[in-house]
Amino acid sequence: MTHPASGGPDLPGEGGGMDGPWTSAGSRHRDGEGGVPGSAGARRGDGGAGGEGEGGAPAFEAVELARSYRLEGVSVDALRGVSLRIDQGEFVAILGPSGSGKSTLMHLLGCLDRPTAGTLRVNGVDVSTLDDTGLAELRNQAVGFVFQSFHLLGRTSALENVALPLVYRGVAKAERRERARRALESVGLAHRLDHRPSQMSGGEQQRVAIARALVGDPRVVLADEPTGNLDSKSGQEVMGILSDLNSERGVAVVLVTHEREVADLARRRIHVRDGRIELDTANEREGGVS
Ligand SMILES: Nc1ncnc2c1ncn2[C@@H]1O[C@H](COP(=O)(O)OP(=O)(O)OP(=O)(O)O)[C@@H](O)[C@H]1O
Ligand SMILES: [Mg+2]
Repeated sequence: MTHPASGGPDLPGEGGGMDGPWTSAGSRHRDGEGGVPGSAGARRGDGGAGGEGEGGAPAFEAVELARSYRLEGVSVDALRGVSLRIDQGEFVAILGPSGSGKSTLMHLLGCLDRPTAGTLRVNGVDVSTLDDTGLAELRNQAVGFVFQSFHLLGRTSALENVALPLVYRGVAKAERRERARRALESVGLAHRLDHRPSQMSGGEQQRVAIARALVGDPRVVLADEPTGNLDSKSGQEVMGILSDLNSERGVAVVLVTHEREVADLARRRIHVRDGRIELDTANEREGGVS
């Protein structure tokens, strides 16, 4: 169990600190939206690939997106000009060799990091126009992020872990608990609300992480190797949840995977190599994307 406070290389400061992925300096509510995962179906009934969501904007639009890291004076070009569009309701798998830039791309899409060049619109909003507070708010409102190694607070109950993103939205405690309970119920964990991550199996921990990504009712869920640390049965359960989320509730799902069976569930596959998109194809077996 990774305690988030110890920090994984992937995670900019989770652990309840004010710069965590779920923080938002604002506490804007989205009035009129149910806010529980089960309510999203009414919002988007098409369950479908492609098309444009409310407001007409794609989930993501990237043009020549680049990210370089400076390491001891040497520049590492992790992404070298990625252009893509992902519509609301799509189900996309991102594939590619280790070090090809997949996580870097996911962190940019998830507003956990900023590009060094190029433009990125998330739900129609150009991230370069946002200050850090605005970026945190967009992240908190629009995107649910699932990490490979869960990044749960180890000494905190499942219920409180899931409720955490709502703290940063200023949701009252009773409502936070109710929404967290429903999110956990939706991933089959109604009987584990008071367990701590250390008292749960890997598959259960990943489902808690998914519930945490869903509790804010995002239009997009990004998952970086969500089955990477799981046995095959738990992996199938997790993929079933993500798949249903997409087909039944119309939530766009973008996931990184090394596993062929997982990639086969997606309707579109994007292959990344050396920081660029090598191939972007519809999955014919699944009927393809629009
Ligand atoms: N914080 C960082 N500082 C310097 N270089 C980095 C940093 N993060 C990633 N890199 C480098 O950027 C490149 C892309 O890394 P990234 O994590 O995006 O790869 P990946 O495709 O997700 O690989 P994996 O499949 O192993 O998770 C790699 O060469 C990596 O070493
Ligand atoms: Mg990675």
